[in-house]
Amino acid sequence: MMLKEIDFPISLNFQPESGMIEPCPQVTPRHLSDLRMMFQDHQAVEKILEVEDRLIYEIRYYPFVTSHSDMALAVTKIFPGIIGHEYHMTKGHKHERPDQAEVYYCVKGEGYLLLDTLEGDFRAIQWNAGVVTHIPPMWAHRVVNTGNDVLVFMGIFHLSAGHDYDIVASKGFSYRVISVDGKPKLVEQFRNK
Ligand SMILES: [Fe+2]
Repeated sequence: MMLKEIDFPISLNFQPESGMIEPCPQVTPRHLSDLRMMFQDHQAVEKILEVEDRLIYEIRYYPFVTSHSDMALAVTKIFPGIIGHEYHMTKGHKHERPDQAEVYYCVKGEGYLLLDTLEGDFRAIQWNAGVVTHIPPMWAHRVVNTGNDVLVFMGIFHLSAGHDYDIVASKGFSYRVISVDGKPKLVEQFRNK
């Protein structure tokens, strides 16, 4: 197939230590109030919210829009911390399009990438700087920061993949990552029907 229009390369500057990209047309902060239903200990959530709406993570986003095929880059920075006994984490989502995969790259920090089909299959990938993981289509994905420093990761996906957060909020992941004696532990959880 001959493409009539030509698109030109786009380069960004990425700072691995800070998780900044330049240019950065969109920054999305996720506060505790945005994740109220994601953490298990609702009492702990409400107690913290009485004092502050803690910033849990932020996403820097760049859409590579071309005339024929669109991709996107998202750099997420998860701040360290615990809600109840549960480590700071992303909301988690499944792609709306069932044919869309994603590549995640852990740039800095330590934690887990949780992968869950929400239909019985689950994987917890231990993550530290340098690990690159391919997330196949149909797997919900969530990143948990178990370290004392920020966790920075990069996601590269097709712009049309779509993000379904509601299915994660209603079904939940099969396991949570909690702190036991200061160390991360995976704990199976009862799944909402
Ligand atoms: Fe994704």
